[in-house]
Amino acid sequence: MKFEFDIVDGDFAKAGTASSQVKHLLKQLNVDTKIIKKTTVAIYEAEVNVVAHAIGGGKLLADINLERIVVEVVDEGPGIEDIARAMEVGFSTASPQVISMGFGAGMGLPNMRKNSDELEVISDVSGGTRVVITNYLVA
Ligand SMILES: Nc1ncnc2c1ncn2[C@@H]1O[C@H](COP(=O)(O)OP(=O)(O)OP(=O)(O)O)[C@@H](O)[C@H]1O
Ligand SMILES: [Mg+2]
Repeated sequence: MKFEFDIVDGDFAKAGTASSQVKHLLKQLNVDTKIIKKTTVAIYEAEVNVVAHAIGGGKLLADINLERIVVEVVDEGPGIEDIARAMEVGFSTASPQVISMGFGAGMGLPNMRKNSDELEVISDVSGGTRVVITNYLVA
């Protein structure tokens, strides 16, 4: 099953909308609660990063079957300069405005890594960012 949700840029009030829709889908499929939790956390962090760091919003694409969920979160940039550094705990380029909304601790990507079975981050400074999270649905 494939699903697609829009992520609106700069709209922190709506950040989390796409990830909560995926959470709802996994609940309907009776997926183990712990797996739903970690998957939702990982997806939420990717969604918030689009709101916080990209211009023009992005998309969340979810592909779910009985064994696994693959979520792609894509935006059109600006992208990440140094991915290895961005993955480090505490690294952030968040703007004062993003910080004032309570984000920018540099915990999102480390949190994604912790809560994903497989994580891929593809980014280009002049292009956009694509985060692919794969989680297995059988405990
Ligand atoms: N989608 C993205 N587009 C552009 N840059 C990104 C994107 N996602 C992450 N980054 C870069 O990687 C850095 C680290 O991301 P991470 O999610 O770990 O922390 P944060 O978003 O700054 O803070 P937090 O997630 O704790 O609120 C960001 O500050 C930003 O520089
Ligand atoms: Mg973040």
